Amino acid sequence: RIAYVNGRYRPVTDTAIGIEDRGFQFADGVYEVWSVRAGRFLDHEGHRARLERSLNELRIPLPVGFPALDVILHEIVRRNRIEDGLVYLQVTRGVARRDHPFPPGPVRPTLVVTARALDLKAADARAAQGVGVITRPDLRWKRCDIKTVNLLPNVLAKQAAREAGAHEAWLVDESGHVTEGSSTNAWILTGEGVLVTRQTDEKILWGVTRLAIKALAEQEGLRIEERAFTVEEALRAREAFITSATSFVTPVVSIDGRPVANGAPGSVSMRLRALYLEAAE
Ligand code: PDD
Repeated sequence: RIAYVNGRYRPVTDTAIGIEDRGFQFADGVYEVWSVRAGRFLDHEGHRARLERSLNELRIPLPVGFPALDVILHEIVRRNRIEDGLVYLQVTRGVARRDHPFPPGPVRPTLVVTARALDLKAADARAAQGVGVITRPDLRWKRCDIKTVNLLPNVLAKQAAREAGAHEAWLVDESGHVTEGSSTNAWILTGEGVLVTRQTDEKILWGVTRLAIKALAEQEGLRIEERAFTVEEALRAREAFITSATSFVTPVVSIDGRPVANGAPGSVSMRLRALYLEAAE
């Protein structure tokens, strides 16, 4: 596999970042993940725009222009011969002697891009079966709308899910409301047929897939409410699902071991998944 690191394309196993990189020492950096299908980026512009917003929020300059970034993204797909997969991009504030404030002088931010193939058949099989989620307290900071590499609470929640035999962990705030998954946005379809997903506040990442699915659902004439829901409401729902660049739309069939509806993937969830993947073609 080939990685892009600060202007060079190198084998992933033959690249290095300074040990005083602020991403390494302070999680002082942001990232973005694009899905690639049949060699094409899904929601390319949405992810690019969110990257720009994350960088602006943290005042990290992108070390290359956006047109050059586009070239790098396509080049990493080409050099890794990715048909179906994902592209990972990370920008940190760069390497400087360890000190909490931003470095005083000009420091070149570190830009890293990697890609890997994804097994679409396995992803489709997972969606057709549906996945289980567990619930965990949301231990994250108060600016989850910025896509930073500060992911330790997400890592711990996902690991707890794995150890419980579940696919994802839904994070629950102090008031008992689901914020989102550890790496996905959370949705339910109520008994009244209303799609519910949390409003884009600072407690969640503003998912690019979330926005695309919202638009598709509106086109389908579905009613949508952007508000928080509780775990109890999710357990009474007709359907539940998660969205992200890597899972598209994946039905949730159990929460903490209790079935959602009859415990099978919902038809609206599967229809939205199909529509999203069709739109990408
Ligand atoms: N995760 N919420 C969180 C906390 C996320 O990390 C992600 C994405 C999402 C979904 O956002 P989008 O639809 O833009 O992918 C929601 C990526 C895929 C990751 O960390 O690998």
